[in-house]
Amino acid sequence: MKVFFETRIEKKKLGIPLALLTGIKNTALKMPAMDQAGLKWSKKNYPKGYTSYGSLSELHLQFTVFERLKEALDKEVHLFVRKLGFFEANCKLKLTSLWVNLMPEGCYHAFHHHPHSVVSGTFYVEVPRGSSPLRVEDPRAPLFMASPARKIQEDLVPRAGEIILFESWLKHEVPPNRVKGTRISVSFNYEV
Ligand SMILES: [Fe+2]
Repeated sequence: MKVFFETRIEKKKLGIPLALLTGIKNTALKMPAMDQAGLKWSKKNYPKGYTSYGSLSELHLQFTVFERLKEALDKEVHLFVRKLGFFEANCKLKLTSLWVNLMPEGCYHAFHHHPHSVVSGTFYVEVPRGSSPLRVEDPRAPLFMASPARKIQEDLVPRAGEIILFESWLKHEVPPNRVKGTRISVSFNYEV
């Protein structure tokens, strides 16, 4: 048996100090109060939650805590890229966007991918027990055609302090958060 064309997804603890994690959480929770444009964007595009994606998506250039998070992310993305088999062995990707997501009860983010990026991912700041997983879809699904039905989605249950990295073409969603607590995360894109 040979297996080709795997879909690689990295899920691991990001080694950052607890004080930085707390700083990121506190800053994330303050974001809605200082981002009117983001609240407006979220109302239309991010039901029941808040994301700075449509307004403040270069947070690593604006806040020290996110600049420090970027340093840790850069290392992990570099390690991840080495496993992806790009012909350019030293393919150096650059962080181009980084934004905050607050997902209270009822908030969801439907299936999508990140078409202008190479690697995307999320750092999980707070994940209440029972809150939404990250759901990914088999990229071959549109090609199965006459093939019998099979499982085409998988759920990854993140923990606070972890990152999940994947290639940006991988379709993913966050199903509705069914618990009272707010799920807090920071998402990002890397490009060539
Ligand atoms: Fe996404």
